[in-house]
Amino acid sequence: MSADLIDGKAFSSRVRGLVAAGVAELSQQGIVPGLAVVLVGEDPASEVYVRNKGIQTREAGMNSWEHKLPAEASQAALMSLIAELNADPAVHGILVQLPLPKHIDAEAVINAIDPAKDVDGFHILNVGLLGTGQKAMVPCTPLGCLMMLRDRLGDLSGLNAVVVGRSNIVGKPMAQLLLGESCTVTIAHSRTKDLPAVCRSADILVAAVGRPRMIPGDWIKTGATVIDVGINRIEDGGRTRLVGDVDFDSAVEVAGAITPVPGGVGPMTIACLLANTLTACCRANG
Ligand code: GUN
Repeated sequence: MSADLIDGKAFSSRVRGLVAAGVAELSQQGIVPGLAVVLVGEDPASEVYVRNKGIQTREAGMNSWEHKLPAEASQAALMSLIAELNADPAVHGILVQLPLPKHIDAEAVINAIDPAKDVDGFHILNVGLLGTGQKAMVPCTPLGCLMMLRDRLGDLSGLNAVVVGRSNIVGKPMAQLLLGESCTVTIAHSRTKDLPAVCRSADILVAAVGRPRMIPGDWIKTGATVIDVGINRIEDGGRTRLVGDVDFDSAVEVAGAITPVPGGVGPMTIACLLANTLTACCRANG
């Protein structure tokens, strides 16, 4: 048996199309959604992500601003930029690219963002709203995963979902979203006992640990839906390539459906960022 591939590239292009249509409709009222991205330092991977965010934001018809601060920028300088963006009515979404340099208190920076403009969904208020099932800004990667799961499976209620990884960015919000869909949710992590058996119980397996090919096919229940959030760079025959947290070649023989890496979850993250920016703009304009 070979699993169906869940095509995140095609799906994200549909989502971006819907966002662009929403932006076009707003423009008839003279409203243009705007996203400000803040990058501190010169991490090459972050620079690529930020550039791609800018390109796709403009392609959707939105305003895009990039604010680049040097690696040695002070906490006060960053806080003052956030205050400016909070006060700017043309800015509907603010994203501070992570990781931040070590001398910066990332939690304080995130919690200084106006929660209504927190398109990452990382502000403590949005975390609390999501955790209590209220209207929140939802973190982009888990939101993209949920969209793909709903598209593939329809009603998720009663399914056993296992999320491997407990990060604030992916694992925890993913578990909250799946609970909101009435799944029976397990969060597994590095201390989990008998991780293979826990994974084998999953109808839905979400891998978000950041360890290349950690989950082999024999940890996967036959027919399960596998969402691989990992984007790991490995050296392979003298060249660098991207692999997920799931060992794709063995998993594809067992799963019912699986997201490839690249081309699965990755493209959905920016599409959901654009969707969140549109949502923030609509809420700001009643
Ligand atoms: N760095 C890696 N992923 C993310 C993300 O989703 N949001 C932000 N702000 N930074 C990141």
